[in-house]
Amino acid sequence: LGSAPPLQLAHKYFQLRPDELSPLWGNPCDDVRHRRIWSKSKWCGTLPKVLVIGPQKTGSTALYTFLAMHPALAPNLPSPTTYEELQFFNNNNYLKGLDWYLEYFPPGPGNSSRLTFEKSATYFDGELVPRRAHALLPNAKIIAILISPSKRAYSWYQHIRSHGDPAANNYSFHTVITANDSAPKPLRDLRNRCLNPGKYAHYLERWLLEFSPHQLLTLDGAQLRADPALAMDAVQKFLKLEHRDYRQLLKYDAKKGFFCQAVSKEKTKCLGKSKGRVYPPMEERSAKFLKRYYTPHNTALSKLLVRLGRPAPQWLKDDLSSAG
Ligand code: A3P
Repeated sequence: LGSAPPLQLAHKYFQLRPDELSPLWGNPCDDVRHRRIWSKSKWCGTLPKVLVIGPQKTGSTALYTFLAMHPALAPNLPSPTTYEELQFFNNNNYLKGLDWYLEYFPPGPGNSSRLTFEKSATYFDGELVPRRAHALLPNAKIIAILISPSKRAYSWYQHIRSHGDPAANNYSFHTVITANDSAPKPLRDLRNRCLNPGKYAHYLERWLLEFSPHQLLTLDGAQLRADPALAMDAVQKFLKLEHRDYRQLLKYDAKKGFFCQAVSKEKTKCLGKSKGRVYPPMEERSAKFLKRYYTPHNTALSKLLVRLGRPAPQWLKDDLSSAG
């Protein structure tokens, strides 16, 4: 081996170690030898301490916005293409390297004393994400937000439809969720993207292979929506933050139908139109189908929560009790 030219040698090496074909970034600050050769003009102390991992359509933007209101927390700078989401660990941005990620967490006044965080809702079910996230951020606190998977699937369908997805516009929600494996590929793909993230226990188990239970909070997204101050109490406790009373910071906006940031006595600042959309209720037959479809997954989640010593959210009890 030692006598082969570099390219052949590399080829041989990756044949022997195919798992090393894609990089796995670690934190240069965590290794003295790496820190010694890390350029003086670079930093690593501001890497996120908290990751909100989604899944999509569970209220992740609301949580991101509420977290950013806390003086002890510092969000990432926005991305020009994906707005508040960096989507580093789950797609090609990862291959852009650590420098790319770090640019969104610049050192600056306040950032050294504040906990940096980011939220990318596609992290939850991204296959490589837990491993990559753990390699770089082994001590991070992870927050997953869970709502009834049926509701999540319907919200996701409405979301993708309003983005003009041709497949979503061609097929009704019921057609999407009931598509079988002989359906056309675009329909099957849509079905999978719609239904799979709701198999919560499966994905949480993958996160738990990397992170210990005390690093993971499963936040009740229904509570975040209906009583965000109570949900934020739980988040602050989990992150060991100095307590802020979100009852003072948030106000229910009757026009929006959601809690929004209280800007002044009369004024509120709500999330944009794409959050809290207005659409017709789910058809009864779809609701029935999904309840049955998710029963094994919800049962697995229920067992997982028992194992972790955590209470089951009300939506989970409801979904399981009325499953038939
Ligand atoms: P809908 O638009 O289907 O109602 P995400 O940010 O993860 O994409 O989630 C979007 C969902 O967040 C919305 O789905 C909405 O129900 C929910 N949500 C929870 N709290 C909210 C709030 N305070 N303002 C707006 N949407 C909120």
